[in-house]
Amino acid sequence: MKKKKILTPNLKSGMITAEEVYDFSNRLIISTNTELDNDIIEKLKYYSVRAVKIFIPEENDTESQPQKEIEKEDDHITYFEKIQKSETFQIFTKDYATSIDLLKAALDNFVVQNNSDIIDDMVVQVYDLASNARNPLHLLDMMQCIRGYDDTTYAHSINVALICNIIGTWLHLPNDELTVLLSAGLLHDIGKLKIPLEILTKPGKLTDEEFKLMKKHSKYGYDILKTKPLDARIALVALQHHERYDGSGYPYGLSGDEIELFSSIVTIADVYEAMTADRYYRKGICPFPVLEALEKEKNHYEPSVLHTFINRTVEAYINSEVQLSNGELGKVILINQSFLSRPVVVTDDKTYDLSKDSSIQITTLL
Ligand SMILES: [Fe+2]
Repeated sequence: MKKKKILTPNLKSGMITAEEVYDFSNRLIISTNTELDNDIIEKLKYYSVRAVKIFIPEENDTESQPQKEIEKEDDHITYFEKIQKSETFQIFTKDYATSIDLLKAALDNFVVQNNSDIIDDMVVQVYDLASNARNPLHLLDMMQCIRGYDDTTYAHSINVALICNIIGTWLHLPNDELTVLLSAGLLHDIGKLKIPLEILTKPGKLTDEEFKLMKKHSKYGYDILKTKPLDARIALVALQHHERYDGSGYPYGLSGDEIELFSSIVTIADVYEAMTADRYYRKGICPFPVLEALEKEKNHYEPSVLHTFINRTVEAYINSEVQLSNGELGKVILINQSFLSRPVVVTDDKTYDLSKDSSIQITTLL
């Protein structure tokens, strides 16, 4: 069937979309194979969409009939399910698998060799992986969708590097600094290669003795990295990524400015990554509870980095349709500067300021 781009004012009810349509924040407005009606056309105008690619039926073309079944199904799937069905996500998944294989080989070689070229190649691979996404939020969303694929240290390291790339971009770091930060994200847990596998993969809680051993990975990582021809901050990040801004971290209980900025960024990326990998948070595949958990522990994190990360992430969900824990459907309309992860949501007949009503949560992005 032919496809043609039609200007929004010329769209008619009954036309079938031949592409996914996104708003300015790159949120999906309608999916492919949607039959337009007046409400949808109004919605496209509201989001200032200039034109949409439409299937043009040819005579006797039986395939041109609207695919009702697909439409019906698409109406009821969530935002994340739509992402998982997209072609971009299929490509991202393939590239992601390649990246994990490459990182496995790179890290094993890197420990025994003095050659930092392997790490440079890995950084390029991570930049490529990030380039599959339309914007930082789309990348975070795709990473969230890929959960469960591989929960190893390698997947964790790639995810942390991708999040570092996002935070670094939001902090306007110059490219060469961004590359150092990304390398630090990739290598922050390299010391775990020296921790016994049975401790790393132990399903239950670690004993005090095991936890003591696990905590040594930051010093082990530092010892491996300090001998390599790399920016000195990369070894420092491995050493400091479990330090906390309020002095409650390890190994030295450093606080505030004693902690390197890049360590503060990797810390937030590391914690966010670990939380989104956690089964409890993963259940609803919704970023708000995770951001809220991070914000509730804000004393642990460098304030400006944390603010940038949460604010920019939540900001991207403005205008998103969500489901609340009381079952109501609504739209995120405003960020609360005092409690970023609990925005204002409007439903048909009510306005919920979630910063003031802790009994209600955002459970699903629609
Ligand atoms: Fe770690």
